[in-house]
Amino acid sequence: MPHIYIISPSVRQGRKSHRVALYLKNFLEETNLAKPEIIDLLKYNFPVFHERLEYQDSPSQEMIDFSEKIKSADGVVIITPEYNGGYPASLKNAIDLLTGEWRRKPVAFVPVSDGNFAGSQVIISLQFTLWKLGAITVPGPLRIPNIITSFDESGNPADKPAIDKRASSMIRELLFYIEAKKRM
Ligand SMILES: Cc1cc2nc3c(=O)[nH]c(=O)nc-3n(C[C@H](O)[C@H](O)[C@H](O)COP(=O)(O)O)c2cc1C
Repeated sequence: MPHIYIISPSVRQGRKSHRVALYLKNFLEETNLAKPEIIDLLKYNFPVFHERLEYQDSPSQEMIDFSEKIKSADGVVIITPEYNGGYPASLKNAIDLLTGEWRRKPVAFVPVSDGNFAGSQVIISLQFTLWKLGAITVPGPLRIPNIITSFDESGNPADKPAIDKRASSMIRELLFYIEAKKRM
């Protein structure tokens, strides 16, 4: 079964997008589509970027752990809130730590916002960054609008059948690229 890491990047006080990470983990376990694990950047608490991991003299254990997880992942899902049309600094801070770990890694996207537009602008900059690093950026993001009312704090969706259907489409697309890469 493919091992999928779900990156939850918000370190904001009272963050909401983490609800979607909790939901996706449950969804993947329930459906047996993949073995999921959440990478919570609030827990890693990385310092502001000063150099890529491979060039650091004594990287922290948290950075090494992050690198090993991305290296070993069959696929990655990035949950991302939209901040002023872009993705959070905490996410850029973590992405830039790694280089080769991202190469040919299938990465799917879940933009989140508290408005009606579901972070429609954030995907452009985030996909471009991952493409620059040589990741396989998977089309068909799972867009989550109105996060405050669409999920509770434990990650339970207000309309489970509807969100399960859309999550399934996003995950199946990611699984396609994971399988395609495996066959190469
Ligand atoms: C600094 C900042 C900028 C934001 N800019 C946008 C934006 O450009 N578009 C949008 O739809 N929502 C925007 N929002 C609202 C977020 O969608 C909302 O706060 C969401 O819950 C953020 O995810 P988080 O709670 O996990 O941090 C912004 C929020 C913050 C804190």
